[in-house]
Amino acid sequence: MSAWDDIKAVPNTTLAELFAAEPDRLDRLVIDEAGMRFDFSKTHLSSALVEAFVKFADETGFAAQRKALFAGEPVNNTEGRAAEHPAERGEGNAESVSRAKGFHARTRALIDAIEAEALGPVRHVLHVGIGGSALGPDLLMDALGRESDRYDVAIVSNIDGVALEEAWADFDPAATLLVIASKTFTTTETMLNAASVINWMVEGGVADPYGQIIALTAAPDKAMEWGVDETRILPFSESVGGRYSLWSSIGFPAAIGLGWEAFEQLLEGAAAMDRHFRLAEPAKNLPLLAAFVDLYYARVRGAETRAVFAYDERLRLLPSYLQQLEMESNGKSVTRDGQPLDGVSSPITWGGVGTDAQHAVFQLLHQGTHLVPVEFLASIEPGHALDEAHHRTLLVNCFAQGAALMAGKASDDGARSYPGDRPSTTILLDRIDPARLGALLAFYEHRTFAVAALIGINPFDQFGVELGKAIAKSIETEGTDKFDASTRALIEKAFG
Ligand code: F6P
Repeated sequence: MSAWDDIKAVPNTTLAELFAAEPDRLDRLVIDEAGMRFDFSKTHLSSALVEAFVKFADETGFAAQRKALFAGEPVNNTEGRAAEHPAERGEGNAESVSRAKGFHARTRALIDAIEAEALGPVRHVLHVGIGGSALGPDLLMDALGRESDRYDVAIVSNIDGVALEEAWADFDPAATLLVIASKTFTTTETMLNAASVINWMVEGGVADPYGQIIALTAAPDKAMEWGVDETRILPFSESVGGRYSLWSSIGFPAAIGLGWEAFEQLLEGAAAMDRHFRLAEPAKNLPLLAAFVDLYYARVRGAETRAVFAYDERLRLLPSYLQQLEMESNGKSVTRDGQPLDGVSSPITWGGVGTDAQHAVFQLLHQGTHLVPVEFLASIEPGHALDEAHHRTLLVNCFAQGAALMAGKASDDGARSYPGDRPSTTILLDRIDPARLGALLAFYEHRTFAVAALIGINPFDQFGVELGKAIAKSIETEGTDKFDASTRALIEKAFG
């Protein structure tokens, strides 16, 4: 019998039954690591299931795949390259770590030069990038940048000009540093936004806008061709994937906006989680346990989505960040060797902010027909100085939702009854700081990798985003004749 058969053979047990039958449940499924508590006890991971999943991980060669990741082997097999985000944190093969350190030193030196006003009196940082070249820096600045008055940092991804107009509304063109973040330095949205910022600078009287531009890229030649001075290009390695790149020079807004020390703490926090992922035994390994949870609900219980709710305003961008990380990585339908996948891949990730979400979508979570495993995040320490009632109420609500999902409530009136037995995971941070956030994001990266390794897909390519881009280009260059009637009519309606 295969390990997967063992997993399927474990009888369904309710959460209440599991708590009653497993007195050691909290000891096994509540794990304190890197300044955070990870509580998987309100999931259906019974000791029998964990045992079966550990066997499944063995059977799928999970440990060898993890070793290959950290060794810098070409785990991104379709593109023939490594995935070396851990090397950015100092965890990888020596050559890659040393290359990453060199790039970081260059970033730091440029920040020092900017602080010494070598690029003029910079007060505002306008970062343009999209996807992995924006979501990570945006999350970091939103979560950690509230107290910092070093620079005004704005991050713009949307090609809709409203985004740029809003971002530069309070900026002085002469005191603005344009940061162009693009791994490939070819992305349409980013290049058009960058060109518009240059126009805005020129219109604002800046004589040499190119003197106020820096580039974050794995394609320095393209940045130079575009007109960025070589000394102001901060490269990173081609083997760092876009959605895994906030640790590289792509993290520049955080490094300059929060200070280099904070950026280093972020990297160290992530490195601590790297070590945990490499070394912790499977049944206590956080990313692996989380991957077991994801796979169990997606493949055994048929859950199509998973929901992430941040009970902390500072983490409000986390769900969007995770959507790219998890869905762009694991939204695949073929295995590493190109065979059709024998089950669903990644669950669809969605979510929001608590307590707001309680007054909007939680109705479905409590009484709807869908099974949605929920993840709650909260911080023991508040991010504000208001009366403690705010934070207490926030946390109490967070914990109450998990309890309510699990307990449910019987009633003779169907409309008022809650089925309960609905799973949730809680991640409780001691506080939100660079080290903990680094560890948290590395946890999510490795969880995503672990899911991919267990089901045999490559999480590091994203060919699925190409077709739409190609069609958009061909509409511009070749006209609309070859498209369907609906698309032609929409274009006709919009452009005449
Ligand atoms: O379109 C998807 C994507 O390639 C992402 O993977 C990437 O993060 C984003 O576009 C931006 O790409 P780049 O950094 O090359 O501009």
